[in-house]
Amino acid sequence: MEKKIKIGIIGVGNCASGFIQGIEYYKQHPEREVVGIMHQDIGGYDVRDIEVACAFDVDKNKVGKTLDEAIYIKPNMVDWLRVPKSNVVVKQGPLYDGLGKYLEGIVEPVGERPIEELKKEIVAEIKKTGAGILINYLPVGSQKATEFWAEIALETKWAFINAIPVFIASTKEWAERFEKANVPVIGDDMKGMVGATIVHRVLAKLTADRGSELTNTYQLNVGGNTDFKNMLERERLESKKISKTESVQSQLKKPLAPENIHIGPSDYVQFLGNTKIAFMRLRGKMWADIPYDLEVKLEVDDKANAGGVIADAVRIAKVALDRKIGGALIGPSAYLMKHPPVQMADNVAKMDLEKFFE
Ligand SMILES: NC(=O)c1ccc[n+]([C@@H]2O[C@H](COP(=O)([O-])OP(=O)(O)OC[C@H]3O[C@@H](n4cnc5c(N)ncnc54)[C@H](O)[C@@H]3O)[C@@H](O)[C@H]2O)c1
Repeated sequence: MEKKIKIGIIGVGNCASGFIQGIEYYKQHPEREVVGIMHQDIGGYDVRDIEVACAFDVDKNKVGKTLDEAIYIKPNMVDWLRVPKSNVVVKQGPLYDGLGKYLEGIVEPVGERPIEELKKEIVAEIKKTGAGILINYLPVGSQKATEFWAEIALETKWAFINAIPVFIASTKEWAERFEKANVPVIGDDMKGMVGATIVHRVLAKLTADRGSELTNTYQLNVGGNTDFKNMLERERLESKKISKTESVQSQLKKPLAPENIHIGPSDYVQFLGNTKIAFMRLRGKMWADIPYDLEVKLEVDDKANAGGVIADAVRIAKVALDRKIGGALIGPSAYLMKHPPVQMADNVAKMDLEKFFE
């Protein structure tokens, strides 16, 4: 069994930067135990075994740069520590629908080239760097670009971790294709470590488990990075809203009527940077229909919240590759993602995941 886990990154933005800097942090602190959200060791792998083998972007300022430079280039803003010199050069990916209107003037795409030419180059780069795992960190709304990369995963037999709300693992046709090709896929749309979705899910489940009747609920999210700026374009948000809303609805005994649940990215507040603030409210009825009202404010570093989840997903995907397990990984997707093929209560998903390792 090869100890190193080679990964490819699609979209060298803030999530990628935080993930890479986090791995470096643990390399610099071998004594630190806290990693991921599951175990220090997953199937014999530690986060320090993860190595970026290739990376792709469309940003003129990032393509052609080595990874140790590209991850700090604006509009990226994660700057926790410096990483050592890397010999991975960021390669060009196809643009498709990657950049929405709010990123115009912020991200300037490198000149377009024919898709077939890019595809050849990408497949060659992936094959050259050896079997591994692709992580999709494209902006919300990148439907076509994500489908392109899912095809690449199928063709190269690299596992696919779909961190964004474009439905691949949770779509029957795609899941069947991954199953047929015996390539693992974990998706879709990662759940933060202690993010708004998981907190809202747990509280929604609590109201149901305690027998109260939830009458309405909202979750408003604000942040100041490019992810939030991009999400100002409501047309790009449809699947994000579905993903976040279904994730909470799935924990209730009876789903709320659409007019009684409002969940979604809500605004861009530039000075917040990578700080994400979620405001949640759950209102319901108790004994004798007497009302109650629960309010929560959660403030987190959006990228620290994302890193540990992907550290787990990567190691799980590697275990699946080692064991030649393909298709949508049901338990891992339910535990780590907002819109998995099968929604489960989080404790059930965790048990399912433990079973996967047995
Ligand atoms: N807590 C979290 O951060 C969290 C949680 C769940 C999901 N997500 C999702 O993860 C994704 C990444 O988030 P982020 O904060 O890193 O975003 P980001 O805007 O910082 O990074 C996106 C990167 O993709 C690049 N890109 C755009 N179009 C491309 C294309 N066609 N091909 C290759 N690269 C392209 C951009 O240049 C940029 O470098 C988003 O979809 C976000 O919604 C994040």
